[in-house]
Amino acid sequence: MKLSLRDRFPDMTVETTKGTIRLPEDYKGKWFVFFSHPADFTPVCTTEFVGFQKKKKEFDRLGVELIGLSVDDLESHHNWVKWIKENLHVEIEFPIIDDADRKISETLGMIHPNEDDTLAVRAVVIVDHNGKVRGLMEYPKEVGRSIGEILRFVKALRLASVKKVFPPANWPNNELIGDKVLFHRGPEDDPAKDKERGITALSDWFIYKNEEAL
Ligand code: BEZ
Repeated sequence: MKLSLRDRFPDMTVETTKGTIRLPEDYKGKWFVFFSHPADFTPVCTTEFVGFQKKKKEFDRLGVELIGLSVDDLESHHNWVKWIKENLHVEIEFPIIDDADRKISETLGMIHPNEDDTLAVRAVVIVDHNGKVRGLMEYPKEVGRSIGEILRFVKALRLASVKKVFPPANWPNNELIGDKVLFHRGPEDDPAKDKERGITALSDWFIYKNEEAL
């Protein structure tokens, strides 16, 4: 199965370094970021784990949970987390799923046959408070992800969902409109009120306004 945007995240019970978790049920009412990585005790994955942990407080402030996975067992995960703590002085606080039999990675389409088909790719699935898949990213094993971009993606997605707006490229540092957001004018929007509402319309399809980040 390959996940698509707006799919319900498949119901599953997973064993993790922090105990048993039912997905997406146990995170009902919260967003979560599910990320797979190829293998424990590998350098790029280690940098990603440290990167996620360093940004964990920012995900916490948004009420967003992190949950990792690799095709290794719990003993390996625990040993790797211990190694990271002892050698890099970073305590990994988010749960890591045991997928030694690769069932979860295969169910979610995270094993790619044209890559190394014994490993999961670097996939990111962003799931909303209703258990719906809202964001998908995939990287090969060679390249580590930008955790800052994943955080930006979650923030932008939530702003887009709640305020019905469209965060632009590189939001909130867009080259043209800075931290403003684009939107589609509704029939009730009166262009004569644009100025008082802080709206700028460059045409009838390129319209932007201020919107506080959530
Ligand atoms: C790494 O995370 O460094 C890695 C993982 C699998 C294959 C190659 C590199």
